[in-house]
Amino acid sequence: MQASKKLTEKVTWVGKVDWELERFHGDELSTARGSSYNSYLIRDEKVVLIDTVWLPYDKEFVRNLKDEIDLNDIDYIIIQHAEIDHSGALPELMREIPDTPIYCTNNGKKIIQGHHHQEWNFVTVKTGDTLNIGESTLTFVEAPMLHWPDTMFTYMSGENILFSNDAFGQHYATETLYNDKADDCELFEEAIKYYANILTPFSALVKRKIEEVLALELPLNMICTSHGVIWRDNPAQIIEKYLEWADNYQENQITIVYDTMWNSTRLMAEAIAYGIQLEDPSVTVKVFNVAKQDKNDIVTEIFKSKAILAGSATINSRYLSGMGSLIEMIRGMKFKNKKAAVFGSYGWSGEGNKLLAQDFAGAGFEIVTDGYRTLWVPDNDELVACQGFGREFVRSL
Ligand code: FEO
Repeated sequence: MQASKKLTEKVTWVGKVDWELERFHGDELSTARGSSYNSYLIRDEKVVLIDTVWLPYDKEFVRNLKDEIDLNDIDYIIIQHAEIDHSGALPELMREIPDTPIYCTNNGKKIIQGHHHQEWNFVTVKTGDTLNIGESTLTFVEAPMLHWPDTMFTYMSGENILFSNDAFGQHYATETLYNDKADDCELFEEAIKYYANILTPFSALVKRKIEEVLALELPLNMICTSHGVIWRDNPAQIIEKYLEWADNYQENQITIVYDTMWNSTRLMAEAIAYGIQLEDPSVTVKVFNVAKQDKNDIVTEIFKSKAILAGSATINSRYLSGMGSLIEMIRGMKFKNKKAAVFGSYGWSGEGNKLLAQDFAGAGFEIVTDGYRTLWVPDNDELVACQGFGREFVRSL
């Protein structure tokens, strides 16, 4: 069955749209709109395959590729990143064409070997190395930690395409493939979620690498990512977004996250949100129960926020485990330039607040007030006091 899509005279998409993907990186990342594993076939005087697809789709990928081309006609394979969603179909493919050279970075070779334990015909490349394939030349640009040590980009002259692998991607399944065919709102929701959850820890490197690539002043017709849409209409727009996101991005937003046992901390959260709006109606306030709502969406909202308020009841001298899970996740994000305060209800000794403040400080947040505790269930006076705490928090920013 034909499954490929022709992008230009020379370049054909031969990837896999995964409509049913719900979790990625094991269970660490939610993918509410599926994803795609984009692989590209270039036909010039030489034939080149860029990246493959995730392991469960390896046979399907090779079968479809055979419908597109005699595998023996492939001169070079380029693997820009060894993670299994891109190198997963290599074993199935290399069974058919075992001697075909695989171009990758030196780290790529080690990591591909670490995953597949095969001595394939690796050709290692570094930034500035080129591969002449006929009318076009491919130029390699190492992009370590965008987002693995092995990651690289490939630029194709003539067609003016940047194959960017994970960078500029989104977990977003579309049949139409191009950014100008996608729902813009959905597309940018997924793009920022992807950046916030995957690339935030490496923001300094993202900024530096983009500036390095921009300095080359390469003409750019398309950015062909490895997930989600191909940026065809104004591809520079996603580069500009990445430069914004990589620069300690924040909007005029405060996110309130809480975990609650018997709703007391929830009532506090809602009263605090009300107080923030009373004090400064220009601030966007969003409220999430971390035990019930999607943690990756919450991380995205924290990424967009200038400050957060974190609340938890105290249980067994600690805070609740839903909050613990979120803190563990955001500790790795290395957020910068974000402020925080804590709140929560308690019944006995009430250590939760203090620990929460300590752990958010440990995750890089600046704790700006002492926080607010309520004994047992907040009555009306307590809820008014919570509103006041929200107002004071806004003033302290
Ligand atoms: Fe899409 Fe880092 O793999």
